This record gives sequence, structure tokens and C-alpha cells, in this order.
Amino acid sequence: MTALRVGIVGFGGYTPARVMTNEEWAEHVDTSDEWITSRTGIKRRRVAAPDETTVDLAEAAARAALEDAGLGVEDLDEIVIATDTPEVYTPDTGAFLQHRLGAREVPTYDLGGSGCAGFVLALDIGMARAAQKAGRRILVVGVELLTRLMNWKDRTTCVLFGDAAGAVVIGESDTAVELLATTAGTDGSRAGILARLSGGTREPFTLESAQRGDHLKIEFNGREVFREAVKRMGQASREVLDQVGRKAEDLALVIPHQANKRIIDAIAKSLGLTDQQMYVNIEEFGNTGSASVPLALAQARAQGRIQAGDLVLLTAFGAGFHWAAALLRF
Ligand code: ACO
Repeated sequence: MTALRVGIVGFGGYTPARVMTNEEWAEHVDTSDEWITSRTGIKRRRVAAPDETTVDLAEAAARAALEDAGLGVEDLDEIVIATDTPEVYTPDTGAFLQHRLGAREVPTYDLGGSGCAGFVLALDIGMARAAQKAGRRILVVGVELLTRLMNWKDRTTCVLFGDAAGAVVIGESDTAVELLATTAGTDGSRAGILARLSGGTREPFTLESAQRGDHLKIEFNGREVFREAVKRMGQASREVLDQVGRKAEDLALVIPHQANKRIIDAIAKSLGLTDQQMYVNIEEFGNTGSASVPLALAQARAQGRIQAGDLVLLTAFGAGFHWAAALLRF
């Protein structure tokens, strides 16, 4: 009998039904399909229904991942959620998801504020927690409802984002997807370059700030973010390959955070990867923050892009700046 190993045993994703095209954005703000497509690669994104909230998206992805794993909610021992668009400010989205799923009174925790790098960081934590105790099963979710918390009149940010959720279940099985290597880093000196600054202790909400729409404002220097994203995701990818003595050509698939097609192309070029090795779904879903990597992972697997034995690299970058990479063996 093959020995059980700790790893990912189920994958799930969820995207809201409503599709919003670039042409539709051009009716709201001074933009065009040509501008958005040529600068970002995005053609469409999903927008949550008015009655959907973060926990609805998270629940759908979580249930899909549990079903894929052949497990029930009662089997879960912990829940970790990466999100920058939580259900409410306090308590965390994990508490709401636990109740919604009908899980046992298991600990839950959110990883908030890590931007688009959140899921890969949460996966690393989840894997380490699972490895600590035999039989422990952990649900890890990346979820974002960005269209609810952005300024629909700011063309420099609104056209970039979409809503989605992705989830994995970590457990033990003879076919579990192993985590071979991880790396992560933070450059806190760049915290103001990509940020939502209003609403904390430094700038609590006031009537005036709400009227100005500060709570929807995303500070953002696109060019700086672009440069750093290429550098850090490339660097993190090389680090995890080096840790296990593998090369870029050994990778069956790379699942990068989907922020911009040009960023993905630049990473592929810097690592010497072919188009076939890169998973890209940004055209359909835009930038879905911490949901981007787990959604792409679930889709790539469902589409048959990943086979048993394949090496798959995840790499992500986001506000903080935070970055992370993980090397998986299916
Ligand atoms: N439609 C039309 N014109 C626009 C739009 C728009 N939606 N948005 C900005 N512009 C204009 C600007 O106002 C500017 O006009 P100006 O020259 O008259 O001032 C011009 O287009 C160029 O703007 P830039 O910001 O220099 O455009 P750039 O080529 O850098 O592309 C982009 C912007 C796509 C955001 C790019 O910087 C980028 O991809 N950055 C990284 C990705 C990113 O930051 N994603 C956000 C989340 S972060 C993350 O996921 C890691």
C-alpha cells in the first residue's frame, strides 16, 4: 500500500454569473475595449449580484472543493481565508464561513491585507498546519468581491478587477498534491504604493471621508506595481525551483497571479517559459485578487491541463508589497 501523504486533496472555484465586458465599462467611464485589452489583456470580468457577499462566493468555492475531495464539512479541522474584501470588518470572514458551511467549532482565521499574494501565503500556512498533526484537514480559500469596494468612476482601477473565489482542501491521501517548496517575502517600505488607506486607526472613517468616497479609494501606482510584480514573481519562482534543484523547463504549468497579461508574458520571458507552460484566464475574469491563483488552479485541473506527476508552480504578488511562490507535484 502507498503511504499517505499530506497535500491538496480537493479543488474548487466559483465565479458570479454576471459577465461585464469592456464595452460595458466604456459606457460608464472614459475608456475603450482597445485600451483595456492592449494594456491588460482583460476582455471580461464577473460581477457579484447585489445580494451576493464575500461569504456567498467563499461558500460556493469551499463546497466545490469539499465535493472534489469527497469530504463533508464535518471533516474540516480548520479554515483559513485570504481576502482583502471581507464580509465585515470584525469578525473575520472565516467565522461567517464556518457558520454558513455548518462546520464544527473549528478554528478559523483570515489572512487580510496581503492583496493578491494572500492565497499562496495561506496555502503555505495551511500545509504547515496540516503537516503538524496526523489527519488534520484544512480548508484554504481565496475570495474577493472587489467590485463592491472600488470606485466605479475611477477608470484607472475599476476596469482591472473582478469577483471570484477559489478553494482547496488539504488532507492526507495516497494521491494528495504535495507541496515541494515555498518562498515568500515582504517589502513594507512600499506599503503606500498599492493600498486602501482609509478606515483604520490612522484614518478612521468620518462623514467627510465617506462623502469623498475615501473608503472606495485604491492608492495605486500602476507602473511601480508592474515593475515589482515582474521582478518579485520571477525571483520567487526561481527560488522554489532552486530549493529542489529543478529547472523552468521541468514545469508542466505555471499559474501566476492574473493582474495583467503583459506581466505574465514578462515573467515567462524572464524564466524562459513557453506560452503552453503559462496558465492565463485574465481575458475572462480580470484581476480577482487573492481568488486569482486558486480559481486558475481549479480551472486548469478541470480542463485537463494538469496530469499526475506534473510539477506546477504558483506565483503571486500583491499589496504590501508581498510576494510568494509554491511548487506543487500532482
Ligand atoms: N482607459 C483609458 N485610459 C486610461 C485608463 C482606462 N481605463 N486608465 C488609465 N488611463 C490613461 C491614464 O490616465 C494615462 O493618461 P495620461 O497619459 O493622459 O495621463 C494613460 O492612460 C497611461 O496610464 P498609465 O497608468 O501610465 O498606463 P499603463 O501603461 O501603466 O497601464 C496598468 C496601466 C494597466 C494599470 C498597468 O500599470 C499595470 O498593469 N499595472 C500593474 C497591474 C496592477 O497594478 N494591477 C492592479 C492590482 S495590483 C496586483 O494585482 C498585483
